[in-house]
Amino acid sequence: MAVALFTLFAAVGWSPSPLHRRSVPTHVDPSTLVLRRGASAVMHERGIRGALRARLVGVGSAAPEQRVDNHQLARVVDTSDDWIVQRTGISARHLLAPGEGLADLGIAAATKALQHAQVEAEEVELVILASSSPDDMFGDAAHIAKEVGCKNAAAFDLTAACSGFMFAVATAAQFLHTGHHRTALVVGADALSRWVDWSDRNTCVLFGDGAGAVVMKTAEAHQRPGVLGYEMRSDGAGRKNLNLGYQGPSVHLTDEAEGEVVAEVTKGEYQPIGMNGKKVYQFATSKAPQVLREAIDAAGVKVEDIDWLLLHQANIRIIEIVAEKLGIPMSKVLTNLEEHGNTSAGTIPLCLDDAVKQGRVRNGDVVAMAGFGAGLSWGAAVVRWEGPEVEVESGQEVEEAVAVD
Ligand code: COA
Repeated sequence: MAVALFTLFAAVGWSPSPLHRRSVPTHVDPSTLVLRRGASAVMHERGIRGALRARLVGVGSAAPEQRVDNHQLARVVDTSDDWIVQRTGISARHLLAPGEGLADLGIAAATKALQHAQVEAEEVELVILASSSPDDMFGDAAHIAKEVGCKNAAAFDLTAACSGFMFAVATAAQFLHTGHHRTALVVGADALSRWVDWSDRNTCVLFGDGAGAVVMKTAEAHQRPGVLGYEMRSDGAGRKNLNLGYQGPSVHLTDEAEGEVVAEVTKGEYQPIGMNGKKVYQFATSKAPQVLREAIDAAGVKVEDIDWLLLHQANIRIIEIVAEKLGIPMSKVLTNLEEHGNTSAGTIPLCLDDAVKQGRVRNGDVVAMAGFGAGLSWGAAVVRWEGPEVEVESGQEVEEAVAVD
């Protein structure tokens, strides 16, 4: 019992010592933490996986104007609209044009998310950008924060490929839960068009560019937690099946006067995305249902309680299999990959934004989300959506529901 209590206190940043007791934020009462059924064993081994006092209160997204549909792509590479639609569900993708930046997408998505949440940029204390394709290898988060006006925020990038948004939400939620930060902006953005081999039909048909962002806030004492349960996993053994590996040409550092090579280094360069499609497909269809079940279990909810399933938008066949394995009907599954393809860390918030703006996801709805991808990495979260509702033009909602069913 004593060990379990200590683990619980450690996980919420609390210790019985007077020194640490002073650092407990007054608005977080550890006794109100929601622990899942039978959580003590899991707590002991891996820390708490129950609800976090963090809420998702606004969403926004952005995609480049340049749109390439399957028919256009079939003029560039040996493929067809039929093949791409049947094997993936993708019909088009939006691609950054020269002169446009990934950060521009992140800035647009973040600005819209703040407007939707009716939160001032100055309120934001934490900005996390999930991306594997920043404009600046040192990170774009601080630049996005500055351009959006988050002058009081600490900002950093987080890389977990297509699971990046899920990992970033879980990371932000920890800071919000403890009260160390009270308002966060989580951006998922990628421009994999820069990193695919446009002559490789196995990969280039899958990806597009885009960004989405959510505003998250600490759930105050009188408010329900919004992150009900989550889980994150990774396994580097699968890296060979999906990667964007460094491979720079060698450069000699030469003493020109003596004509001697002093050292040999490499110049910054990456290979295009390498992928074993079948292996990634098998990985996604086995791990995504597993991690979702874990997150659902951690949330202490039943599958029937889930209003919406929102998966990383990689392939409609993967999405259908995961939904079927969980026993969730396709009428509860959100998708927009037909229009955007796989925008990596961007897919989940981009799709959430579409669904909220179409009036499908409503305030109070429970959304089970999962990401999976390179690393390999995979993660899921069950959240209660608490953003403002958007007025929908009549007929739009019905039209969308028909399109997905
Ligand atoms: N257009 C036309 N034909 C294509 C093609 C394309 N874009 N890409 C592959 N093919 C061909 C193959 O060459 C193969 O031809 P062959 O039978 O003559 O050898 C045939 O189509 C079947 O290829 P296969 O690889 O078996 O197709 P698949 O059913 O496994 O589908 C993927 C391929 C990539 C769509 C699928 O494996 C997948 O979605 N994997 C997961 C990828 C993913 O989501 N990655 C990102 C994760 S974050």
